[in-house]
Amino acid sequence: MKVIICDDYQKLSEKAANYFLNQLAIKSDSVFGLATGSTPLGTYQEIIKRCQEFSYNFSQVITFNLDEYCISLKHPQGYRHYMMNNFFGKLPNKPKHIYIPTGNDSNYQKVIKEYEAKLKRYPIDFQVLGLGSNGHIAFNEPGSSIKSKTRRIALSEQTINDNSRFFNNKSEVPHYALTMGISNILRAKKIIMLANGKHKAEAVRDMIEGSINSDCPASFLQTHPDVTIIVDKEAASKLKKKYSVSKEGWFEDLILTENIVPKNKKILVVSPHHDDSAVSCGAILSCLTKYNKVTTVVMSNGSHASMKGNTPKERTASREQEAKNESRILKTKTIFNYSQFYDFGKKYWQNDLKRFAKVFKAIKPDIIILPDDRDNHPTHALSTELVLDFLKTQKKRPELWYYEGLWSQHVLEEINLIFGYNKKRLAIKNKAIRAHKSQISRLPLIGATENLARFRALTIAEQNFVSYGESPFELDDYVEAYFREKGQ
Ligand code: F6R
Repeated sequence: MKVIICDDYQKLSEKAANYFLNQLAIKSDSVFGLATGSTPLGTYQEIIKRCQEFSYNFSQVITFNLDEYCISLKHPQGYRHYMMNNFFGKLPNKPKHIYIPTGNDSNYQKVIKEYEAKLKRYPIDFQVLGLGSNGHIAFNEPGSSIKSKTRRIALSEQTINDNSRFFNNKSEVPHYALTMGISNILRAKKIIMLANGKHKAEAVRDMIEGSINSDCPASFLQTHPDVTIIVDKEAASKLKKKYSVSKEGWFEDLILTENIVPKNKKILVVSPHHDDSAVSCGAILSCLTKYNKVTTVVMSNGSHASMKGNTPKERTASREQEAKNESRILKTKTIFNYSQFYDFGKKYWQNDLKRFAKVFKAIKPDIIILPDDRDNHPTHALSTELVLDFLKTQKKRPELWYYEGLWSQHVLEEINLIFGYNKKRLAIKNKAIRAHKSQISRLPLIGATENLARFRALTIAEQNFVSYGESPFELDDYVEAYFREKGQ
């Protein structure tokens, strides 16, 4: 069991949403098991919010709800209504299949049989759980066996009391529910369990540190190989052992893919030389341009690179032509905003800062993609220094994505944004790099970039996203890696 203690409910919800969406990113046809109640509400809200900012797609997703009251289908407190009002109805698109057992069917044996058959057919990849104050998971009340399957169950007095807050009075709370069994829950590949508030503290302690038995059904989660418990400080207040909050990979990181990128943003790409944009972030740029306005600003005239052309002017002209060819391929807009530092000095000049300020004000970027601030290549280093110094003068700071490339690689542990892409995307990126004819004739840019992308795909999944006991997941064949700093 991995235990993550968050400062508050909001942080808990953000982490859970991140985890959920990363599951969707690595498997677009994921099968999700979903909980209701008050605990996951923040998570659902956060997922909905992210869907407004990113192009997440639920159309291949399958969902199973854990349980349903034996209550009229029309009742506003039924979980069907809860799910429509709080989640499904607000997603950009509906999941392919939504399975919620019908709780009031007199022939509930048939409902259970069908639900079990569906569970067998679509094994759950990722299960979200809440915790009853009596230690129940789904409606598996104390006394439930680890072998239990989907069934009709009598709700305990405590659960009826706890849930009476959703009804006009206690007498309205149903006494029965249909629930997924514990054995079904334990078959999920990954489980996240969420709990917040003081009233959950004892159940949280029994679940994590207590002995495994049916007095606390949630303690059966200790037998599962891949459970992450996300709790707030109050819910964690009765835990006796210390739980380290190490690098949390999946929770903190942003996994983007061909189909999942930000949308409706203004994006500024800082390219010290004409070819850095293609070499370092060509793959993601070609995806971003589908949903965003992307402008690349070239920071130096590039005439120092050894290449054909008699005069610096001629060399710059041919590099500009190459950059224009790149922008046609990636569908970006390119502006040339040459800094004096390239020709005249080791520091950027005030004029350079002013020029960049003009570009910034014209574009008003939500995201800036730029070289890493530890990139030692002098032109890259000065470009980033200039941008960061300029941002210090601004009240609002856009989100920053530091890219890596052939001149500087990120420290593996610090990578927190990955963009996985396929062979087709690689071909587009290579075409964009190839547009810089003068450069590929002197450097093996394509092969080296491709190798870095393969290396990232291999190492990040194993090393960054997997902690002890978890199984590594498969990323795409190629990965561009970024360090992301959220805007302020
Ligand atoms: C609901 C469910 C229940 C709840 C639990 C906590 O689908 O399965 O186990 O997760 O009763 O409820 P809240 O979150 O309302 O405290």
